[in-house]
Amino acid sequence: MSESKMKVLVTGGCGYIGSHTLVDLIDNGYEVVSADNLSNSTEDALAGVEKITGVKVKNYRVDLTDLAATRAIFQENPDIEGIIHFAAYKSVGDSVFNPLGYFHNNINSLLNVLYCAEEYNAPHFIFSSSCSVYGNTDALPVVESTPFQEAESPYARTKQMGEQIIRDFAGKDGKVSSVILRYFNPAGAHETAQLGEAASNPATNLVPVITETAIGKRESMTVFGDNYNTRDGSCVRDYIHVMDLANAHVKSLEYLAEGKNATKADIFNVGIGEGVTVLEAINAFEKTADKKLNYQIGDRRAGDVVAVYADPNNSMTKLDWEPKRNIDEIMRTAWNWEKARTA
Ligand code: WQD
Repeated sequence: MSESKMKVLVTGGCGYIGSHTLVDLIDNGYEVVSADNLSNSTEDALAGVEKITGVKVKNYRVDLTDLAATRAIFQENPDIEGIIHFAAYKSVGDSVFNPLGYFHNNINSLLNVLYCAEEYNAPHFIFSSSCSVYGNTDALPVVESTPFQEAESPYARTKQMGEQIIRDFAGKDGKVSSVILRYFNPAGAHETAQLGEAASNPATNLVPVITETAIGKRESMTVFGDNYNTRDGSCVRDYIHVMDLANAHVKSLEYLAEGKNATKADIFNVGIGEGVTVLEAINAFEKTADKKLNYQIGDRRAGDVVAVYADPNNSMTKLDWEPKRNIDEIMRTAWNWEKARTA
């Protein structure tokens, strides 16, 4: 391990992407602290991080919508130079039933973390955004300049608004530089199977649904539609391995630290640029796990877009980042994680 680089605050460090990013930060010599109120996670993830890296990460169990409590983290750690802000509610479906809760949580926590970045002179800020900011776009592959369509959910709107807040803030005096990362479909787990996604119960995203079906937590699963206008009739998505996604954050910090940013709030898509259909994903699982999945074809799911995948050229060239894992690696690691946590 190289000598310690800057100290980084990871909000949502006990969550799926946050915990994997802690591992990549530690592996790359960063000092880290986490802030997570455990509203949708547990500190088990930090135990996994410790098993993998040997480093025990301190978690501040703080509600980031509380400014005084957020400040206290910085008072204790005045040397924080980088902030990676993952902490947020993320369920598209829940957000429709709880829009105010989503705005309260996702917007106030962002504002408070930005207040602190400014007050405590933390110059580098990375924001978790989402391909959902593009709405139902026909432009494929999606480039960063693809215009936003109407947000399909309050969740997606919190991400659109978050990006706008960061851009306005960056325009003020530019003391804090940001990178906004728009994730496509994160999936997979750490190679060691010590860390992975603690999916919602029951899971709703495709990859955990597949592994839960295979292990017998559910009897069967449904492919939501096979009559779309795609190569096999099922929907197309850009699945990005969580460790490749984690590494995009580390690369973004390096990019900011080296002053390579073009603006004070550069935006990057984080996908692999390849669309995979639901049936192809199932096939990849069956091949890697050497196991038949019990699935049936069902109706289309309300709100699904037919196809969405990234043009990741910008992130690959400017951030010097390269996704190294494909859908087979996603399935292999997700399956190992499912078996490890069920054992
Ligand atoms: C993938 C594909 C389903 C389950 C969501 C959010 C998005 C982003 C990522 C945050 C679709 C199909 C799924 C199943 C299936 N999150 N499917 N049977 O909807 O692309 O994206 O997570 O920013 O905003 O909307 O992900 O994993 O739910 O679905 O056929 O049991 O798998 O129809 O085509 P989605 P997903």
